[in-house]
Amino acid sequence: MDIKTVIDKLKSARDVSDAELEALLTSEDEDAAAYLAACAREVREKIYGKAVYIRGLIEFTNYCKNSCYYCGINCKNTNAQRYRLSDEEILGCVKEGYELGFRTFVLQGGEDPFYTDDKIVSLVREIKSVHPDCAVTLSIGERSEISYRAFFEAGADRYLLRHETASPEHYAKLHPAEMSWENRMNCLKILRKIGFQVGCGMMVGSPFQTTENLIADLRFISEFQPDMCGIGPFIPHKDTIFKNEPPGGLRLTLKLLSIIRLLVPDVLLPATTALGTIDLEGREKGLRHGANVVMPNLSPVSVRDKYAIYDGKICTGSESAKCIKCLSNRVASAGYEIVVDRGDRKRI
Ligand code: 5AD
Ligand code: FES
Repeated sequence: MDIKTVIDKLKSARDVSDAELEALLTSEDEDAAAYLAACAREVREKIYGKAVYIRGLIEFTNYCKNSCYYCGINCKNTNAQRYRLSDEEILGCVKEGYELGFRTFVLQGGEDPFYTDDKIVSLVREIKSVHPDCAVTLSIGERSEISYRAFFEAGADRYLLRHETASPEHYAKLHPAEMSWENRMNCLKILRKIGFQVGCGMMVGSPFQTTENLIADLRFISEFQPDMCGIGPFIPHKDTIFKNEPPGGLRLTLKLLSIIRLLVPDVLLPATTALGTIDLEGREKGLRHGANVVMPNLSPVSVRDKYAIYDGKICTGSESAKCIKCLSNRVASAGYEIVVDRGDRKRI
């Protein structure tokens, strides 16, 4: 099978067979990989030009009621130093971010029952009333349809909920029995129905992940046509049962970014912090493989190292202003440019 022909088909028809996806994912042909990246860049630049959208990430709680096996802030980890940001601290991060040019704020946290619907609703309302020109993204896990509706009605624009894996069997190897793949997938459907811009996504190289699993992920992404898609390598955390598992690979992650860009041409695709953690220039490389979003951390420096979902996370020591300066240089070195914009999906 000629890989370049598969890439051309992916780009023009956005549809390839499982066998073709498998050939693409397992190919070690350097020329083909470079061609795939060039196609992804071309598609991305046709829709978004050289613009890179920034999202100010506010990691407001690392309490979590779940115990996903891969995650360093799972509730079983007694070594994690738990914290919650107050409303004032969160609004302070937003204010600082606005001044730095952010027009999207992502409230991300573990599944923390302390933050009742009312608390989230009032936070969203407050941010939207101070900054009506900004988008608010929530990334707080699985909740009920009633909760999601309340958040949407309060003004939340987007919701990130990685599907983690499109295979129920693989899901069961990464999560305890009380967590349900069906419920997670159902949450994504509900979020879409309510009207959120919805983000899904998965880790690359998570324990037990097979090429077949990744093909199922790509099929799901292609069918669901998410507005956003978060893809980063798995990185082990020392206090989890996966501490000795190898991290996900750089090249496979980059390849997946490019494939997703071709499957969903107008998707908002971040070059993730995890990608920047496994490789010094991972985020720049991500941008050169079709990514068009970066999500710098706006959390107070005093808590940054506590939101440790994996080991070695970058940017935990830098002030927001320093980080954004560093990131602007990195984006420029990849040939792109950070813009002051809400950064909504440009539908093609
Ligand atoms: N390595 C990489 N990504 C991780 N996530 C959780 N734990 C890890 C890890 N060890 C990802 C999951 C989750 C998101 C918040 O972070 O995909 O949805
Ligand atoms: Fe955060 Fe470079 S982007 S320190």
